[in-house]
This record gives sequence, C-alpha cells and structure tokens, in this order.
Amino acid sequence: MEEIEKKNVRKNPVENQILVIFGSNGDLAKRKLMPAIFQLYLDNLLPENFIVIGAGSQEKSEEINRTDVTKAMLEFAKESAEANPDKLQSFLEHTYYQKVNNQEFEDFGNLKNYIDHLSATLDIPKNIIYYFSIPPFLYEVVAANLIKYGLNTEEDGWKRIIVEKPFGYSYETAIDLDTKLRSGFNEDQIYRIDHYLGKETVQNIMVTRFSNGFFEPIWNRKYVDRVEITASEKIGVAGRGGYYDTSGAMRDMIQNHLLQVLAVVAMEPPSIFDSESIRNESVKVLQSLRPIKSTEINQNVVRGQYIETMVDDVIQKGYRQEKDVAPNSKTETFVALRVFVDNWRWGDVPFYIRTGKQLPEHVTEVVIHLKPAPHQLFKQRCVAQSTNMIILRISPDAGVAVDFGMKIPGAGYKVQNVNMAFHYSDLASNKISEAYERLLLDCMIGDSTLYARADAVKASWKFVDPIIHAWKSNSDIPLYFYECNTWGPKEANALFGNKELKWRAPFKKFKTE
Ligand code: BG6
Repeated sequence: MEEIEKKNVRKNPVENQILVIFGSNGDLAKRKLMPAIFQLYLDNLLPENFIVIGAGSQEKSEEINRTDVTKAMLEFAKESAEANPDKLQSFLEHTYYQKVNNQEFEDFGNLKNYIDHLSATLDIPKNIIYYFSIPPFLYEVVAANLIKYGLNTEEDGWKRIIVEKPFGYSYETAIDLDTKLRSGFNEDQIYRIDHYLGKETVQNIMVTRFSNGFFEPIWNRKYVDRVEITASEKIGVAGRGGYYDTSGAMRDMIQNHLLQVLAVVAMEPPSIFDSESIRNESVKVLQSLRPIKSTEINQNVVRGQYIETMVDDVIQKGYRQEKDVAPNSKTETFVALRVFVDNWRWGDVPFYIRTGKQLPEHVTEVVIHLKPAPHQLFKQRCVAQSTNMIILRISPDAGVAVDFGMKIPGAGYKVQNVNMAFHYSDLASNKISEAYERLLLDCMIGDSTLYARADAVKASWKFVDPIIHAWKSNSDIPLYFYECNTWGPKEANALFGNKELKWRAPFKKFKTE
C-alpha cells in the first residue's frame, strides 16, 4: 500500500523550484501552508533545491521572517516542530522574504529582481508557483502585476498560480476573474484549490467506488433511495465575521467544497485515471444539477442563522453579535438543500446537502441510504428499523461503514441493525496527510487532478447563483433562527417531504446509529 502511494506521488518528478506565497503573514499561510510545506520537507518530498519566498506587505528582514516562521511552526505544527528541532533549523534556511504590497506595481519589479538574484545565487531554475493566499479582490490585481513584469512567462521555467477559494463571488464574477487570469496564464497553469478535494478521505470515495466490484452495481437510482452530505461545524465564524458576512454558508461551503464532494460521489467512472478524465466526469455531474427555480426555493432550500444561546452555562454569541457582522444581517450560517442530478444514473434520487456553524459536532460525512429490500419478510420482527446505509466518513475518525440488518441470536427471527466499520486509524502505519500537503505537492509535480477546473467552478456558480439571488430579492423567503449546539432549524427536516425521515445526527466518534 505504502509502495503504491509513493509511486503515485512520484508520478512526475518534483523539479527544483520556488514557491512564492502572497499573503505570507496571513492566517492561512501560518496555519496551513507553512506547516504543510514543513511536513513535506520532513517527509523528504521536497526537491533538493527548493525555496519559499514569503511576500507580504510588512517590511521585515530575512531574520525576522525566519523568527516569524519558527513561531508559526511552534504554534501550528507544534508536534513535528518540537520533535525535529534540527530539521526546523535547516528548513528555515529555505525560507526568504520580500516586501510586496500587492497593489504597488513597483513592488513586483523588486520581487522579480529578488527572484532573479536568488535563482542565480542558489542555482534554482525559475520554475515558480505563486500562491494567492490573499483576499479574493486582489487575485486579478496580483495576476496583472505578475503579467506586466513577465513573471508569468515560461521561457526560463514553468509558472503556476494557486488561487484560493472563493473563485469569484457569483457566476458573472467567476467568469470575469477567469478571463483576467487567462490573459496571462493558460488553464494548465491555473490551480484552483479546494482543500476538500485534498482530503485523503474524499479521494478514498473514488477508490471505494472504483476499485471494488460490489459498490458500483448498487450505486445508482435502482438501489439508492437518497444521499445525505453533511459538513457541520462546532465553531461559529471565529473572528472572520467581515469575510463571512459577505459570503454566507452557500458561498463559503456549498458552492465549492460540498458540490465537489457531491460530484465525486455521483460521477461516472472515468475510463482512465488522469486529471482530464476525472475532471471531465465530475464536471458533467455539476452541469447536470437540476436548477432550483425561484418559485421552488422553499421546498428545496432552508437557510438559518444561529442566535445567542446558553450552552453549558456559557453564553454563546449569536451570529449578529459577532465582530464585523451587521446587526441586522440576513447572512445564512446554515443551509440545507435538496438537489437532483438529472442524468441516467441518478434520475430523481434526491441528494440532501447540509452545512452549518455552531452545530453540535465538527463532522463531514456522506451517507448513501439504500432502498429497502423489495419484500419485507421480517417486518414485524425488527428490533430497530432495518436500514441499509453506506457511510463515508470524511472527518473526524475517517472511515467507511455499512449498516444492515442481522438476526439476533436465539429463537425466532428478530432482526437488528448492525454495522461493519473500517477506521482509517486502523491503518496505523500510514499517516493521513493534511489536505494542503497533498495539494501543494500535486501542484509542485504539475498534477491538477485534485484542483477545480474552470468549467466546474462555473457550473457550480450557475447552480447556486439563482438561490442566492432569490434570497436577496425576495424577503418572503424565511431565514430561520436556530440555537447554538443544535442541528440547525427543524424546518430542514421538512426537505425530506416525509415525516418519517430526518437528517442523520452524526457523532464525533464514527458510529452508525
Ligand atoms: C473553509 C471555510 O473553506 O472550510 C470555513 O471558509 C470552514 O468557513 C472550513 O470552517 C471547513 O473546513 P474543514 O476542513 O475544517 O471541514
């Protein structure tokens, strides 16, 4: 298994290269990017000649930058940094810094000179990744400045850009941003990151489906009753009120992460396992999403917002009391929706997607509910209702479980629901790598399989845009308030259109009751 993994990772060689992080003093860079690069370094996956240039608006020396990187490591990669002090020291020698104010054209001239200088003195080819870890409104500004200085040209080495989500703010703005980036970068140079696709367990959905003979035959409208996708979070907006209030759960989670997960669950098997074939299949799913008309919003979408609540004798702020949130904000912190994939495989199978903040658990999972056996022989003898589910747990306690009915030992035929569960943690020898490690390494190698392609991003905006627009223009569409530490507004259960059905309440520990 380990062998196969290594071979996959090393499909293309990791060439010597330079990584420039715009926004290197920001939260994402400190929390996720630098720890991921350090881990790749510890795993000996970085090329021999590799440097990271932090580019931030602050003026600071290389020395101070290295102190800042050390602090970030000790905070966000604590365990590995403390366990490998020598490695941390040698890693720091690969880190550099250049002050770049993203809106100052001349600063890009200085960046170019610095790159030229480092490339010459350290003998590193100008294979460069530019990571846009900056507010979205700056993406086109930075791209334009790179283009003006010829920092996008590939005569002296390849150039790639990694663009964080959200890619655009709507269908129109996504197209506009794409056009601007494409004025200086080809599609194969643009890596639109969606960290959900980098999660080991999301990739495992493809392996579960396509490397086994027994899942795929039932993975269709004939056997599947409905699919539930949940991404719940225990935290609120955690100091990101300014960003979140202009985004909301639909733009923050559904348009990207959860529609991508849906695409992986619903896609057809590609004929070969390469970037284009996989992405060709997943985009077809997104293009097949049945549009939700403005007159059908109430039957298919429920939005909610958390309110001030006493939880374990502590007052949890309501969303409107969060810093940088408008006191009368109508931004949704919870969304549940019913979606249909209009194609041959999934005709009329509902996909229920739900995400929210301030819910009881931080859990992401996909549940495939299978149709009941056609003839209920043991109907009167079920102790628990016999249901068949396949649960793909993305996090935490990642794994796969299958739920089914079994005879309770003893006289008669009493049936009870049991489950067979596989926990990733049982593969003790294989550490599950962080999404950013995998995705950064893929970009370094030039493998864009797990990055979103422009047509997929556009297709998902095309689906969510009318809903967001209806919310904005029609004040009759309710915004339901829910208490913190609950599973969101109870109205979300009405989406099932059947009083017997409700959302599964997942627990932190992976179990399937
Ligand atoms: C981010 C969102 O993309 O994903 C956050 O902006 C959210 O609001 C986060 O908290 C969830 O990611 P994960 O990996 O913790 O499920």
